[in-house]
Amino acid sequence: MGKRKKLSEFVYTIYDSEADLSIDDRQLKREATEALELAHAPYSEFKVGAALQFNDGSIIKGANQENVSYPVCLCAEGVVLAQASVMLPKKKIKSIAITTKHKYKPSDSPIAPCGLCRQSILEYENRQNEPIRLLLISELGEIYEINSVKDILPLQFDTTDLL
Ligand code: THU
Repeated sequence: MGKRKKLSEFVYTIYDSEADLSIDDRQLKREATEALELAHAPYSEFKVGAALQFNDGSIIKGANQENVSYPVCLCAEGVVLAQASVMLPKKKIKSIAITTKHKYKPSDSPIAPCGLCRQSILEYENRQNEPIRLLLISELGEIYEINSVKDILPLQFDTTDLL
């Protein structure tokens, strides 16, 4: 009985620039930047690129796909995860690098995945029973490395609530 406050915090790594990344992550960043060109984002003019790396080192790309009926838009993270799930269902996902590019407003700090994407990444983490590392890459500056989507989605809704 009673009332308590609880602090929720998490640790993540900030890299000042690409030069501070491992060679492997530099490659992943390059692929995520290339993925921006796959975006179809004429409405928001905000391109999002995702490069997903499996445990075996192989990489696939995704990007946001917008629709004139705005709620139909697909986020880059969802596009790349669905692709992994149906094309390479046996592989485990190690990391996802996410890049963004705004036509008028380049950012020097990374943009974090939206709530729907966090929930979607959580599903894949739980399915493979291993964390998925996120690399959030700003256009002009820092890169954030997050060890698990659970770090940025506290108090998760998952299968244990339903089944
Ligand atoms: N978007 C993503 O691709 N991922 C996110 O996590 C946030 C938003 C896209 C959706 C839409 O095409 C554009 O960014 C602007 O919201």
